[in-house]
Amino acid sequence: MPARPRQVDHAGMEIHPVEAIVIGAGMAATAYRAPRRRVASPEAEASADRHATGRSAALWLRDDGGPGASIPTAAARALLDRPPPGLAAAPTIRTRRAASGAARANGAPAADAGRGAARQAGIREEASMSDSVTFSDVEAAAARLRGKVVRTPMLRHRLLDEITGGTVLVKPEPLQKTGSFKLRGATNAALLLDPAARRAGVVTHSSGNHGQAIACAAAMLGMPALIAMPADAPAIKVESTRRWGAEIHPFDRHGVDRDALAADLAGQRGATLIPPFDHPHVIAGQGTVALELIEDARAAGLALDHLLVCTGGGGLIAGCALAAEALAPGAEVWAVEPEGWDDTRRSLEAGRRIPADGTGESFCDALLSRQPGAITFALNHPRLAGGLVVTRAEVLRAMRFAFDHLKIVAEPGGAVALAALLAGKLPTKGCTLGVVISGGNVDPAVFAQALAAA
Ligand SMILES: Cc1ncc(COP(=O)(O)O)c(C=O)c1O
Repeated sequence: MPARPRQVDHAGMEIHPVEAIVIGAGMAATAYRAPRRRVASPEAEASADRHATGRSAALWLRDDGGPGASIPTAAARALLDRPPPGLAAAPTIRTRRAASGAARANGAPAADAGRGAARQAGIREEASMSDSVTFSDVEAAAARLRGKVVRTPMLRHRLLDEITGGTVLVKPEPLQKTGSFKLRGATNAALLLDPAARRAGVVTHSSGNHGQAIACAAAMLGMPALIAMPADAPAIKVESTRRWGAEIHPFDRHGVDRDALAADLAGQRGATLIPPFDHPHVIAGQGTVALELIEDARAAGLALDHLLVCTGGGGLIAGCALAAEALAPGAEVWAVEPEGWDDTRRSLEAGRRIPADGTGESFCDALLSRQPGAITFALNHPRLAGGLVVTRAEVLRAMRFAFDHLKIVAEPGGAVALAALLAGKLPTKGCTLGVVISGGNVDPAVFAQALAAA
C-alpha cells in the first residue's frame, strides 16, 4: 500500500482521502478517524485496496467495543447505498468480531456470526457517527467563522411573550448573508479544505439555500463551485446562486437520485462534495446558530427551556442540539417539520431512520428531505425531545407575523418553528423559548400568499 500524505483537520481528526473505501473509477470517499483510532483493521485496509482494484467497495467496521470503529462519512454512505453502475461486486459494509470468539478465530465477518452481532455493530456504527462531531467542533467553527458570516442578533417582541405566556427569543437567520443559516456550515466546510482541494473546487446538490451558501463560500475563497439544483427550485434561489458565480446543473426533482448525481459530478471533476446536511463540518457550522443564541440569552440573564428548530435532513438541529447540550443542558430541543415531511419526528419515535411519506405539498421547499441523514440522526436521536408538525396555514400565519411584528421576511421552511410556537404545539407558559427562523429566501408570489393570510 503506497504511503499517503497525512492531513489533519481543525479538530485533530485525521483525514484519509481514499483510505478505507474506494468505489469505481474516479469516485472516492473520505474516511475520518479520531486521534488514536484506527480507521479499520489492517485486513480492512488490505481489503479496501484489493476491492479498489477490483472496482468494488468494502468498508470494514470493527465490532470489538474498543475505540476502533471507523466512521463512514455521508459521502461514503451515499455511495454504498446507491452504488454507481459498473462495479464488479456490490459495495458492502462488513463487521469483524472481537478479538476473542469464534468469528475472530476463523476470520468470518460478524454478519455470519449471528444477528445479535450485526445489531450490535449497527448500534456501534451509530455511536461512531455520533462521535464524528462534538461541541468542541461547534466552538471551533464559531471561531473560524468570526468575521466571515453575520452574527445575527437575538430578537424579542412583547407580543410573542404575551401570546405564549413565556419569554421568546428569536434567532433571525434571514439576516444572514445569503439569507439563511446555511452559510455557516458551507463556509466552515470550505475553510477546512486544503489548498489543492480548494483549487479543484466544490460540488453540491441543493434545492436552494445550501447551493447559495456553497456558491458564496466558494466565491469568498476563490474556488469553483458546481451546484446541482432541482429544475423547479424557487427562481430567487437559482438566481442568487448564479449571482455568486456558481455553475448550475439543473435536474428533475422527481426522477433523479441527487446524492448519486452530486457524487458523480464531483467524481468527474475531482472536486469535493459538500453535502447539505450529513457532514461533520457542515453540522458543526450550523451549530453556531444555537451557540450564539444561548450566549445572547445568558447575557440577558435567561436560560432556555425549549429550543424550536426548522428541520429538513437534520444538520441545523444536530449542531444546535450539541450546543444546547453543552451550554443549556436543561433545554429541550424540538424538531419542527411541515405536514407530510415529518421524517425526523417519525424516525425519533421509531428509534430508527424512516422516510417521510412525502405526500405533503412542497410549500416548504427547503424542508423536503425524505429521511434524516445517517450522521444527523445518530446525533439527534439521543438528544432531541421530539418532533412537532405544522400545517401550511400555520406556516403562512407565522410568515405574516414575522413580517408584521419582527420585520423579518421568512420563507416557508424558515417559518415552521415560529409557526409551531404560535400554533401552541408546546406548553409555553412560564418558559423561556428559543425559536430559529432559519431563512428568508422566498419568491414574491409565495410571500404575497403570506401577506394575504389573516
Ligand atoms: C431555510 C431552511 N431552514 C431549514 C433547513 C433544514 O436544514 P437541515 O437540512 O440541516 O435540517 C433548510 C435546509 O435547506 C433551509 O434552507
